[in-house]
Amino acid sequence: MSNILCIGAGYVGGSTMAVIAQRCPQHRITVVDVNAERIAAWQSDRLPIYEPGLDEIVFSVRDRNLFFSTEVERRIAEAEIIFVSVNTPTKTFGRGAGKAADLQYWEKTARQIVQYADGPKIVVEKSTLPVRTAEAMERILSSGRRGVEFDVVSNPEFLAEGTAVADMQNPDRVLIGGHDTPSGRRAVETIAEIYAHWVPRERIITANLWSAELSKLVANAFLAQRVSSINAVSALCERTEADVTEVARAIGLDRRIGPEFLRAGIGFGGSCFKKDILNMVYLCEHYGLPEVAGYWEQVVRMNEYQQFRFVANMLSSMFNTVSGKRIALFGAAFKAHTNDTRESPALAVCRALLSERAEIAITDPHALENARADLGDEAAKVRFEPDPYAAAAGAHAVALLTDWPQYAELDYEAIFDRMVEPPFLFDGRNLLDHQRLFEIGFNVFPLGKPPLVHQP
Ligand code: NAD
Ligand code: UGA
Repeated sequence: MSNILCIGAGYVGGSTMAVIAQRCPQHRITVVDVNAERIAAWQSDRLPIYEPGLDEIVFSVRDRNLFFSTEVERRIAEAEIIFVSVNTPTKTFGRGAGKAADLQYWEKTARQIVQYADGPKIVVEKSTLPVRTAEAMERILSSGRRGVEFDVVSNPEFLAEGTAVADMQNPDRVLIGGHDTPSGRRAVETIAEIYAHWVPRERIITANLWSAELSKLVANAFLAQRVSSINAVSALCERTEADVTEVARAIGLDRRIGPEFLRAGIGFGGSCFKKDILNMVYLCEHYGLPEVAGYWEQVVRMNEYQQFRFVANMLSSMFNTVSGKRIALFGAAFKAHTNDTRESPALAVCRALLSERAEIAITDPHALENARADLGDEAAKVRFEPDPYAAAAGAHAVALLTDWPQYAELDYEAIFDRMVEPPFLFDGRNLLDHQRLFEIGFNVFPLGKPPLVHQP
């Protein structure tokens, strides 16, 4: 039996530890956080995050071998293995502002660990960190006066929100990086043994520390790059009457390219793609590689362009003004099956339309609470409406912004009847049956495909 601690009870800490607790009943796992409200939510019937399948697991293991607590100090002393899963957002101040990772939360945990540890520990980097962060962590940990031994291991997390439980239960790979020393190899093996309870050994791969840290940033950069690539192609399709879905299918059947992550849309969102690419851009600049930095930065610029393009297209289609017009936004979450709105392109579109003085009603099955918080002062100008039919009532346009499957199942005839003529429908995720919508009477604007517009 091991005492495992996870510092940071967020999307990653909460979900990963729940699955480890479920799969390793012999280990005792505690998740701590400085945010007492979040811990109380993890202890309640209403978990702080919406993630399909997570409630069931948490309710089955909580208080058996999974515990949530705010007692960071005491739990550090008890644990043999400490996962660090705190937030590492983009720095908003000082050197590297807007690009570099803000490591203040991470460093604070390293200092807490060294302060309260009284026996040997394996410290696992679960947060996404700049390459060579483990070096700094080791320096802080070795500064302790009590001479406690620490091994630092990098075990980046690759789960995606909305499929976190499935991704954890059946990962493509688990990556563990450590030093090539006897104690480094032992630490890597200890962490590998945890995953080996349910992950086939051939999918648990090891690497040196720096490769493991960098692989996480690179994986996100590659995924985001595919989204920006297909979005760039969607712009070209709109000028040439090609259809981006047909192009994606045609290229995706090439095994070297593959079919995943080729859905054109209003751009990638979420808490990580942008921050991790910008972090990599910063690292490239730091290591004197401006051409490499510029290459990756373009992925983020293309993402911004796609959102700008979507709104510009709405404006030009709606007679160059949306001022005073009601627009219903279907979706606030950055993707389906999550209540997360961090960096959501839906909210970027919402802000852009507000600046054009549109009247916005936004709907979402799970993310309205977070959307309201994220919009800050601008939330006062927005109507938050759980019912999509009510959101569309009296609207000039509907813009579909999140790929919730239930939006494909709505009664669009009923929606059409409630809207102002001529009704516009902008499908920012190519989720809907465009021909059918056109036949109902909508002017339909898919992404990367010819629009379907009724002639007067
Ligand atoms: P999050 O913001 O949801 O959670 C982080 C938690 O850490 C917060 O609740 C915060 O209060 C807590 N925290 C900060 N400092 C602390 C301290 N000193 N002691 C105790 N708790 C502290 O973040 P997240 O989405 O779970 O992401 C965590 C890390 O994992 C990030 O580095 C992120 O890049 C990475 N990651 C995230 C995802 C994802 O899907 N969200 C996937 C893979 C990797
Ligand atoms: C992503 C990665 O997929 C995870 O492997 C990684 O662990 C995680 O980031 C992280 O480090 O946080 P996540 O952001 O939760 O996961 O969700 P994705 O499914 O990757 O979607 C990201 C964004 O890209 C969403 O806004 C989604 O709508 C968009 N997307 C994705 C597209 O527009 N088109 C696609 O084809 C795929």
